[in-house]
Amino acid sequence: MLFSPPSIDSWLPKIREALNNAAPAMFLIDQDLIVKRCKALKELLPGARHSFAIKALPLPKILEQIVNSGFLLEAASSGEIALAGEADILFDAPVKTRDDIELALKKNAIISADSYSELEMISSKALLRVNPNVGSGAIAYTSTATVDSKFGVPIDDSVAKAFKKYSFLKGLHYHVGSQGIGVPLLIEAAKKVSELAKSIIEVRYINIGGGLPVSYKRSESKEAHLEYFPVIKNIFGKYLDSGNLFTELGRYIAAHAGVLVARVIKVKGSIAYITVGADGFVREAYRPSDWYHDIFILSPDGSLKNSTPTPQTIAGPLCFSGDLLCTNRELPKIEVGDFVVVADVGAYTFSMWSRYNSRPMPGIYGVDGALLKKPETSEDILRFWS
Ligand SMILES: Cc1ncc(COP(=O)(O)O)c(C=O)c1O
Repeated sequence: MLFSPPSIDSWLPKIREALNNAAPAMFLIDQDLIVKRCKALKELLPGARHSFAIKALPLPKILEQIVNSGFLLEAASSGEIALAGEADILFDAPVKTRDDIELALKKNAIISADSYSELEMISSKALLRVNPNVGSGAIAYTSTATVDSKFGVPIDDSVAKAFKKYSFLKGLHYHVGSQGIGVPLLIEAAKKVSELAKSIIEVRYINIGGGLPVSYKRSESKEAHLEYFPVIKNIFGKYLDSGNLFTELGRYIAAHAGVLVARVIKVKGSIAYITVGADGFVREAYRPSDWYHDIFILSPDGSLKNSTPTPQTIAGPLCFSGDLLCTNRELPKIEVGDFVVVADVGAYTFSMWSRYNSRPMPGIYGVDGALLKKPETSEDILRFWS
């Protein structure tokens, strides 16, 4: 099951290889899993032009491997355009300045306009982001197709008028949200946009966005594409046949491909402390009821601890009480010198790194030992703040 969370047993040899790294914490990425998934997606949805959402995992060395697997990149800021290098890009920043648009045009990006006013600034092949208004998924603040969403334009008569007015407008883009969006909601949106596309002769391209939900619990793995892709083939077959259907997945490709390995620095009662907290797990620490990661405890020699679980809390190093990775989780007894392994951190974890307390970001390594991002130093922190 390529898109299910990999078992801890499959990670253990890769983690053990990395344990001689003296750092108190590091992120490990399984590049092969990412490449395998990209290749599989191409086979599972033939004809689609897949892109990878850079925001999920913005490491240039990984992006290069994704591009080499035949993917485009989806960039949502000028910084992400820079990270894309020479790759073909879809540019869909929610807010675009004139400079952003000029930069994207220079890169021959396919730009998704988020509003009619943005169309006034674009002069080459563009899509219009529409809001299919299918309502919220389980996580409201990562749901983007709600009636009051800040994204896109409503589906009404103005859409067809825009296609008549702007000859460079060639297609429709929509995105329902990221995680917490069930496949039925994704399908409802696809149907709405397909109906709209049928009524506008100029629509040659469709971008169905990302948002395929992933399973973060090994106990309940389920692969969303199995339910989703057959329906997409049905609804948008014409666009797949002509090679004019884009996707923008991030989490579905990368979430399971990363782990945090952090040494336990101290233990106070039932609280174990490590050196990464809400800075590396922004959403998780601030909205714990919405986000979850499996956590495993290793002995100092890298063996998996499986003593009788007791409720324990794992805390980070930041100066606020909510800086917790889990609270009263049933885990084997944690001791100083053990390692905490937080699973499934490959998407939207360190890419959201927070500068609060100015803690340096740990290094990011491939499981083959490749350095993907150097550990930050105090000089890096000084440069950031000066
Ligand atoms: C426009 C757009 N496309 C694609 C994505 C990727 O979503 P996911 O990583 O959930 O597939 C996002 C993330 O929110 C997005 O905003």
